This record gives sequence, C-alpha cells and structure tokens, in this order.
Amino acid sequence: MKRILVTGGAGYIGSHVVKALGEAGYEVLTYDNLSTGNRWAVLSGRLVEGDLADRERLSRVVADFRPAAVMHFAAAIEVGESVTNPLKYYRNNTVNALNLIEVMREQRIDRMIFSSTAAVYGIPEVIPVAEGAPLAPINPYGASKMMTERLLADLDQADENFQYIALRYFNVAGADAQCRIGQDYKNPTHLITRALKTALGQFNQLQIFGTDYPTPDGTCIRDYIHVDDLAEAHLVALRHLGAGGRSGIYNCGYGHGFSVREVVEAAKKVTGIDFPVVEAARREGDPPNLIADNREIVAALGWKPRFDDLDYILRTAWDWERKLASRQG
Ligand code: UFG
Repeated sequence: MKRILVTGGAGYIGSHVVKALGEAGYEVLTYDNLSTGNRWAVLSGRLVEGDLADRERLSRVVADFRPAAVMHFAAAIEVGESVTNPLKYYRNNTVNALNLIEVMREQRIDRMIFSSTAAVYGIPEVIPVAEGAPLAPINPYGASKMMTERLLADLDQADENFQYIALRYFNVAGADAQCRIGQDYKNPTHLITRALKTALGQFNQLQIFGTDYPTPDGTCIRDYIHVDDLAEAHLVALRHLGAGGRSGIYNCGYGHGFSVREVVEAAKKVTGIDFPVVEAARREGDPPNLIADNREIVAALGWKPRFDDLDYILRTAWDWERKLASRQG
C-alpha cells in the first residue's frame, strides 16, 4: 500500500493528508483541477492538474500510477451554495465520484477512502451521533455525499474485492503546526476562519447566527477537530485497508463540542483582540448540536487524536491567517 492517488490533494484537508502521507513514506500523486486548491499546498509527491469529469485523462493517470488505494477529497463543500445550485453538488460530489469509482473498477484498483460529512445526519435526534443513526441530510451538500456513500455500500455488497472507508468529518479547523498550509477559501464561511479574519480587520464584525437555540448559552454547539488529527484518521484507515481490513464508515470528531459563544471567547483570548461581535438571526439549516460519537474509529482503527484542544486549533489557525494576511500585503 505504498502508492496513493489523492484527488483534491491541493485543497485544505487533502493537502494536510498529502503531507502526512509523505511523512509516513507513501508515494503520493495528487489529482486536482485547482478550482479551489493551490499548487503550493502540495507538500509531497507529484501534482497532476486534471478534472474528475475528464475521464480519459483520469484513466491514463490511474493506469500510469497504479495506486494501491485512492483517497477522494475533491468536492464542492459550501452548504449555502448547495441550496441555490444543487446540480453543481450532484455533479461534483456524486457524478464525479461515480466516474472515479468506475475508472478504479476498470483498472482493478479496489481500495478507497472517501471524504464524507456529518451533514449526512441532518439534525440528529441523539447526541453524540453514532454512525448507525438515520441519514437525513437537510441540504443538497449532505445529500450528494450521502448518495456517494450509498453507491460505495452497494458496490461493497456486489464485489467482494472492493473495500472502502468513508470518514464522516465534523467541524474541521486549524492548520499545519509549521504554518506551511492551511485553509484558503475565496469566500470563507466557517466560524473559526470568520472570527480570526474579523480579528485581523478583514471583516467589520462577526455575526453570531442564532442565540435562541435549545443549548445552554443559546448558540449552536459543534465538535471542532484539528485538521492534522483528521489527516491521521486517514492514515489509520489506510493501514486498516492495507492489512486486509473490511469496509467501514466512521465519524471523525472528538466527542465533545463548543458553542459559538465559547469559540468566540477562545478566539478573543488566543488573538488578544477584542473584535466586534453582533448577535444575528439563525442561519438556515444549522442543527443546534452536532457532536460525534467517535468510539468506533478509536476501537476499530486505533485512531489516537493528539490535538483535542480548542486553543491549539485556534493558535495554528491564527498563525496561518496572519501569514496569509502578510502575503496578501
Ligand atoms: N457561525 C456563526 N457565525 C459565522 C459563521 C458560523 O455564528 O460567521 C455559526 C454557525 O451558524 C454554526 C457554527 O457557527 O452554528 C459553525 O458553523 P460553520 O459554518 O463553521 O460550520 P458548519 O457546522 O455549518 O459546517 C460543518 C461543515 C460542513 C457540514 C456541516 C454539517 O463545515 O461541511 O458542518 O452541519 F456540512
């Protein structure tokens, strides 16, 4: 299991996994159309610029590289955009995944790690939410990922050689400890990124979306996971498949959460800046509380998180945001 093809390896999460794969001695080939990713973010192996919709090119790349496994990150990820432009999500996240999986099957590449999301649960009834909970996405983003999960499960049933791991990410944040890579979206919507960019003066104020939720302080609770711990989850999943392990679906989160107000307070403390914050209306489609039951990935794959610390997540993200700001001058 030494050669790994990584789609979307130039993106935020993909690039942290490419880095971890390189450090662990894997030979990596990143396939990325650079629509949101960056060439400089690929710290290990080769980058081939290509689109998953370009089946011929993808086929050639897979045939030349002959990966032992494929990690599939390339996707569109904005919940709000998925509501206004659903077809983009079904094309990027479902149809392109099908393309990739068909190319893999044609060439007998039969190990895959798939980036899924907690958005497949919608508004879970039981918190922390376990993998067996009902899937009820409340936006096209979650639905597009759920459909790919279903496709993988059906293929797994039909073909005994095929094994996959789907990882359901909770709220991914933070950056590389050495500050070489981090989140760099054109339109950042995530709480931690917005808070830190507000501290830097790039936004006038941070809005808290909803203060009347049924939570202790009225704001939404999320399970924030450091991107390097998430990268490690991919490595343990890969080792599991490499050792002949079976297919599975695993939550990736720490099993506890923080409210929006708690994140804002921690961000003020870490940055030392009392940036402006205003209370605003609820944002559509936000579940009040989203926390992972992570016992499965710990027990079955031996995942050991190292950065379960909100201040560390914020510190690494803050260092990265300041670096980005100085680059942009
Ligand atoms: N929030 C604010 N102000 C902001 C930005 C966010 O109050 O400026 C709040 C949101 O309303 C939410 C919480 O902060 O309550 C977290 O929001 P994020 O946008 O950071 O993250 P989400 O929980 O919406 O998104 C994550 C993943 C998605 C996934 C979704 C599932 O990033 O990929 O969980 O619910 F689909």
